[in-house]
Amino acid sequence: MNTIIEEIKELKKEKNAVILAHCYQNAEIDKVADFVGDSLYLSQQAAKTTADTIIFAGVFFMAQTAKILNPDKKVLLPRTESGCLMADMVNLEQLREFKSKYPNLPTVCYINSTAEVKSECDICCTSSNAIKIVKSLNAPEVLFLPDTYLGKWVEGQLGNVKVTTYPGYCPTHLRIKPEDIIDARRKYPEAKVLAHPECAQTVTKLADYVGSTTGIMKFAVESDAKQFIIATEKGVVDRLQRDYPEKEFILIKSNIICQNMKWNTLEDIYNSLKYEQYEINVDKNIAQKAIKCIDKMLEVSK
Ligand code: 13P
Ligand code: SF4
Repeated sequence: MNTIIEEIKELKKEKNAVILAHCYQNAEIDKVADFVGDSLYLSQQAAKTTADTIIFAGVFFMAQTAKILNPDKKVLLPRTESGCLMADMVNLEQLREFKSKYPNLPTVCYINSTAEVKSECDICCTSSNAIKIVKSLNAPEVLFLPDTYLGKWVEGQLGNVKVTTYPGYCPTHLRIKPEDIIDARRKYPEAKVLAHPECAQTVTKLADYVGSTTGIMKFAVESDAKQFIIATEKGVVDRLQRDYPEKEFILIKSNIICQNMKWNTLEDIYNSLKYEQYEINVDKNIAQKAIKCIDKMLEVSK
C-alpha cells in the first residue's frame, strides 16, 4: 500500500502541482513540499512557477499573494482556518483612515496584509527585505502597516527615515517578553539569542541578531556558536534542530506557536490536491492594483 507521502507525490505529478510551505508549518509538510522558506522566498517561487496548481501550505495572505501573481493558475489553501491575525487587523476602510491622517506619504504594507490593503499601498515588503524596501523609496517619512513593531525596527535600523506605523502586531511574537530573554541568558550564558523583528523592541534590543525567518536560520548555520535561543515561531526551531543536530536550538518559550500555521497535516495536503480545495480567488480589479505593489517589491528584492 502506498504511503500518504507517495500518494501526494503521485497526485502532484498528475496535476502538475507545486507545494510551497512556510517554515512555520508542521515540519512533516516538508516531506512533500517543493519549496520551504520564508514569505519572500515563497512569493519569489510563486512568481516563477510553471505548475498549473499551487498548494500553499501557509496562511491566507500567502495564498492570496500567489493567486495575484498567477491569475490563470489554480491556487489552493488546504485549510480555510489558516488566517493571519495580524493581516486581519487592518481593512481597506482602516487603511484609508490611516492614510488620510498623513496625506502624501508613501505607504509600505507588510506582505502580511489582504489583497484589498495591498491594492492601495505603494509597495509591499517582507521581514527579510523591509529595510531595503523602505530605503528604496528615498523618502524622509513613510507610512508602514500593519506591523508597528517591524516598522519601528526598520526605523531604528535606518536612522534617517521616520516610519509612522499602524498599530497592528503579531500576537504570537508579542508573547515573547524581555524577561524571557533575560531568564534564557541566565540559564544558557553561552547561547546566542536570535529574534524576529515582529517581536517588541524591548525584546529585539536584547538579542544578538534580529532578522527574518531565513535570516535567523542563516545566522545559526553560519555561526561558530553551538547553542541558540530562538525568539520566533516554533517551526524555525524544529527545522534547525532536525537539520543541524550537532547544534542546540532552544525555543524561547513553549507557547511561541502560530496556531493558524499549524492546521495543515499531510492528510489536508492530500485532500487539497485530490479534491482541489480550497480555491483562492481575488477580485480582478483588486488584483490588478495589488500586483503593482507586489511586483515592485520583487523588483527591488532581485
Ligand atoms: P517571514 O516569513 O518573513 O520571516 O515572516 C514571518 C511571519 O510571521 C509569516 O507570517
Ligand atoms: Fe500572522 Fe503572526 Fe502567525 Fe505570522 S506568526 S502568520 S504574523 S499571526
